Amino acid sequence: MHILIAGASRGIGLALADRYLAQGHHVLALARQPEQSEGLAALARRYPGTLRTLAADITDRDVAERLLAVQGDALLDRVIVNAGISQPKLDSLYDLSDADAARLFVTNAVAPLRLARSLAPRVVKGGAVAFLSSQMGSVELALSARIPLYGASKAALNSLMRNWWAEEDKALPFALLALHPGWVRTDMGGSGADLSVDESADGLVTTIEHHAQAGSDCVFVDYRNETLAW
Ligand SMILES: NC(=O)c1ccc[n+]([C@@H]2O[C@H](COP(=O)([O-])OP(=O)(O)OC[C@H]3O[C@@H](n4cnc5c(N)ncnc54)[C@H](OP(=O)(O)O)[C@@H]3O)[C@@H](O)[C@H]2O)c1
Repeated sequence: MHILIAGASRGIGLALADRYLAQGHHVLALARQPEQSEGLAALARRYPGTLRTLAADITDRDVAERLLAVQGDALLDRVIVNAGISQPKLDSLYDLSDADAARLFVTNAVAPLRLARSLAPRVVKGGAVAFLSSQMGSVELALSARIPLYGASKAALNSLMRNWWAEEDKALPFALLALHPGWVRTDMGGSGADLSVDESADGLVTTIEHHAQAGSDCVFVDYRNETLAW
């Protein structure tokens, strides 16, 4: 299969690339500075024939076009938009500069949907398009009191994904997934988090593959495939 992972330099995105490469698939990894990623360099040594990288920022307007130029004629079986940023820690929760607030929402919600929608014509029937969301994006659960703007940016991601699904009369030829990876020990999750990247990535891959097999649907689930309230 051909797997595209946007945001694969470290953390969960890198672990997902590792999993799919180990299973023998082709991975196209987008990273802002792939040459600076020790993890990607190690994967390139282990899987020289099946890993390709593109240096790009997910917010670049031409990112889909550039990815497709590298991808060539092969269709995409899975598109995984993992790139995301957290809310800068501030004394006052809402005291973000307008530029930082815009960057948060563009990186976490607008750019992921813009990229996925541009790639959609090249995604195979029976494939999957998955976004790394968060349980903090659940409006119902309201779990993001400490970083409410981050939670709101993931709620915006989920909303844009569901609206895409509705706009297509719930008939996209592939599964759409908003994924909560658990609380994971990465640069973003911190060292006190519950899960290792390996535990999270194993669960995420199983969940993505389950929904790709199950067919066209639009779901918000965690790394154990447990459904979350929107
Ligand atoms: N860790 C958790 O507990 C947790 C919980 C819920 C949801 N999530 C979500 O899961 C995803 C991965 O999280 P993580 O913990 O692995 O985070 P991380 O360790 O901070 O890694 C973030 C990844 O996103 C990339 N990225 C950020 N902005 C980008 C941009 N503009 N263009 C391209 N790549 C960009 C980073 O690339 P650079 O190396 O270039 O910065 C890096 O590869 C995120 O969407 C996050 O919101 C994480």
